[in-house]
Amino acid sequence: MNRLLGGFLLSFALGATAADVQPLKNAGPYVPSPDSVVSSMLKEAEVGPNDFVIDLGSGDGRIVLTAAKVFGAQGFGVEIKDELVRKANEDAQAQGIADRVKFYKQDLFKTDISKATVVTMYLLPDTVNLLKDKLLTELRPGTRVVSHDYPLIGWKESKYLHFDLEDKVHISGVTTTLIYVYRVPAKVAGAWKINLPPQVSKTPGLLNLNQHANRVNGNARVDGKDVPLEYVEIIGDKIRFKLLGRKGEFSGQVKGRSIEGLLDGKTPWSATLGG
Ligand SMILES: C[S@@+](CC[C@H](N)C(=O)[O-])C[C@H]1O[C@@H](n2cnc3c(N)ncnc32)[C@H](O)[C@@H]1O
Repeated sequence: MNRLLGGFLLSFALGATAADVQPLKNAGPYVPSPDSVVSSMLKEAEVGPNDFVIDLGSGDGRIVLTAAKVFGAQGFGVEIKDELVRKANEDAQAQGIADRVKFYKQDLFKTDISKATVVTMYLLPDTVNLLKDKLLTELRPGTRVVSHDYPLIGWKESKYLHFDLEDKVHISGVTTTLIYVYRVPAKVAGAWKINLPPQVSKTPGLLNLNQHANRVNGNARVDGKDVPLEYVEIIGDKIRFKLLGRKGEFSGQVKGRSIEGLLDGKTPWSATLGG
């Protein structure tokens, strides 16, 4: 048996799981975001004193440090390079914000991010996309996800900034700088029993929603007839949709397995997942 395989089996014998012994995936080299990009990322995400910012692959810590120092937030960064983690924690001490920000030597893929209200990333394009399921599973609806340069493919951004920056030439060879801001959507896929406003129907209907990240479509069954949805928009826990060919827009708030809302901001409607 070769030594590598032997070590692998030994760690299983000692109680490690397959995830524990997977080699650490390098999510990208150390390339700091220029200061002006850091400011734009935090501004576009509307970071404020009530936010908890997590930077995945935090480098020298500049995103979380700026979030705390300039925008009043709390947070942490995770990074695999010892010297960068040490420098970031030293800078937090020196800036008098070590009580609000911390940096850990930790694999970003194994980091619990459920506490975040804002997640920031400047990582390789394939890494950003490998993280999509983790972002959807662990983050609460409405959490902002900000990515420098690389989009989450298939997600609809709530903001997109494109500008030119000389500082980027030595990093990527071009001046192009992109910032994407997303809002984690509530999970709405499934069949909902819907209590419609009386002017639409006096009997409960069905709302069938298909969801891929924050792209949603579907149809409704009203008085025994299938009616396609003209559009569905989901931003965080807020939903809006319109029945094709009918007057009025439905808006509402998703609370787990129920939705409560108003038609045209006036008449109540509600829905329950699974009926
Ligand atoms: C492009 S730099 C971004 C640094 C910082 N977020 C910024 O924007 O200035 C990416 C960082 O991710 C770190 N990194 C790579 N793979 C990682 C992993 N699996 N877990 C944690 N950090 C990782 C790298 O060491 C590097 O410092």
